[in-house]
Amino acid sequence: AGGAVVHVVGSWCDAVDIPFSDGGSGPSRRCRVVLCLGEEGAPGLPEALPGWTTTCPPRDAVLSLLRAVSPLAVLPLVLHVSEEGHVEVQATASSAGAPGAGAPSATPREDEASLLRQASQAYDAGDFLLAAREFARLASAPYEDATAAYNLAAILHSFGLSLLAVPYFMKVILRSPEDRTAHSMLGGVLGELEPGAVTLAYREIVRRQPTNHRAAHRLACLTQSGRAAEEGRADPEYIREVFDEMAEQFETRLVHHLQYRAPWQLRDLVDEFLVASTEDPEAPTTPEHRLPGAGGWRIVDLGCGSGLCGRLFRHLTDPRAAPLPTDEAEIHQTLVALKGAVAREPHPSAGVRGVMTGVDLSSKMVDICREGGAYDTLVVGDANDCLASLATGSTSLVLSADTFIYIGDLERSFSLAAEALQPNGLFAFSLESMGRHEQQQVAEKRGWDGAQGLDAEIDEGFFLRASGRYAHAPGYVMRLARKFGFTVLRRKPITVRTETAVPIEGELLLLQRQSGSFSGQIQAAAASKG
Ligand SMILES: C[S@@+](CC[C@H](N)C(=O)[O-])C[C@H]1O[C@@H](n2cnc3c(N)ncnc32)[C@H](O)[C@@H]1O
Repeated sequence: AGGAVVHVVGSWCDAVDIPFSDGGSGPSRRCRVVLCLGEEGAPGLPEALPGWTTTCPPRDAVLSLLRAVSPLAVLPLVLHVSEEGHVEVQATASSAGAPGAGAPSATPREDEASLLRQASQAYDAGDFLLAAREFARLASAPYEDATAAYNLAAILHSFGLSLLAVPYFMKVILRSPEDRTAHSMLGGVLGELEPGAVTLAYREIVRRQPTNHRAAHRLACLTQSGRAAEEGRADPEYIREVFDEMAEQFETRLVHHLQYRAPWQLRDLVDEFLVASTEDPEAPTTPEHRLPGAGGWRIVDLGCGSGLCGRLFRHLTDPRAAPLPTDEAEIHQTLVALKGAVAREPHPSAGVRGVMTGVDLSSKMVDICREGGAYDTLVVGDANDCLASLATGSTSLVLSADTFIYIGDLERSFSLAAEALQPNGLFAFSLESMGRHEQQQVAEKRGWDGAQGLDAEIDEGFFLRASGRYAHAPGYVMRLARKFGFTVLRRKPITVRTETAVPIEGELLLLQRQSGSFSGQIQAAAASKG
């Protein structure tokens, strides 16, 4: 699917036969499995597997193989990651050599400590092959290191080798039963394989721990019921817990590990429009059409996170800040652009000093933004409450990068953004897009009878995904845009991030509040403020 490819070539388990061709009637064979991390045709594969390079058993066959060995895929496995990027898996009948086997030691030997440092550095820098190799060595070393096990599991999971990650998540959980992140990662992996069993487990957790917000959210995703599915927004307690915990590593994880680029892509989208509209001789020049208004750019960043959008759009509100580059090679500049990076003299293209406001439910995220210095005002709170607190027509740009994935029902956000924006104000955001299968599920839940034809009826609403995030139907977003008086200026399909080697498809949208009379929308917004 465009990213890393898993080559499955044979089996390590000589007790189980698996067929080598999809639905073929040929004989089954005993075989070995070599799983390869890396690009298709990675160097080394042909040498390692003469004569086998192009034969891949169907994924289902491999899954049933793993299930046959252990129903919950909790296998005693040993991984070896070679220099070329091949992951070789050995399953053992006994637990010898399994993760966590052997006499554990509480402190690392010197060589283990240095290996852990190197592996962690490679992991942070996004060199997953090196990191996986070192973590795999560490994870089977006598020193019981939960970090190595967790990171190895996270790498395997992100490369789509989720089954192999299971024993390593188990190792972390056995060591720290309270580790909610490892539990929820494991729940995510097993939820795809054994949704019934995992649903039962989450029901039990929620019954025993009514304040376990993660478990409640996960249960809502699995059952499409409960508050998150019905109210159309993730529980703020859940968001706070997840993002407070992730805040420190947020940029590394999203930008390096998941190829997240939405803030840069939104900047490009807005820039492109601003340049085109300045050069357009037909563009209206009356004061009410001018962007920004007399008070400079007034930007509100909904779900500001660690402040990537604040840094990328800051040159609009702060005449001393030079625009940060948005091209791939220079992305690191955004990641390091903290307080000290502000130029003393106003930038030549600078306008009037404006205001950059950021709002986020996670106080730890807001602390990081405060340190970064890109925002004039920061609020710990809910995005819609923040919009509701703004004066009518006071804002030039409302931004939301990867935040509406936590708000399914966007009616109130659109209504409040329409009210807060000045005439011709901009509303720029990213979304995950609903797939056809999800659209059909939503339509069926709504009581769709198919009478008006499939396409006309299913392009509506939002869907709470197993990932814990919402996806939106493009038709739903277009309907809201019309309802609240927005013109659609730009729409751009993007890959929001790449997760477990699967690209998550989404969209960037740039809307403009129409400058005509808005009494209808404003009344609707005022009603929804209440
Ligand atoms: C995936 S992060 C994106 C952060 C940032 N916009 C970026 O692009 O780097 C989503 C952020 O939205 C915040 N968030 C989610 N729901 C929210 C809500 N209803 N109100 C305010 N913040 C919210 C989370 O705390 C998190 O920091």
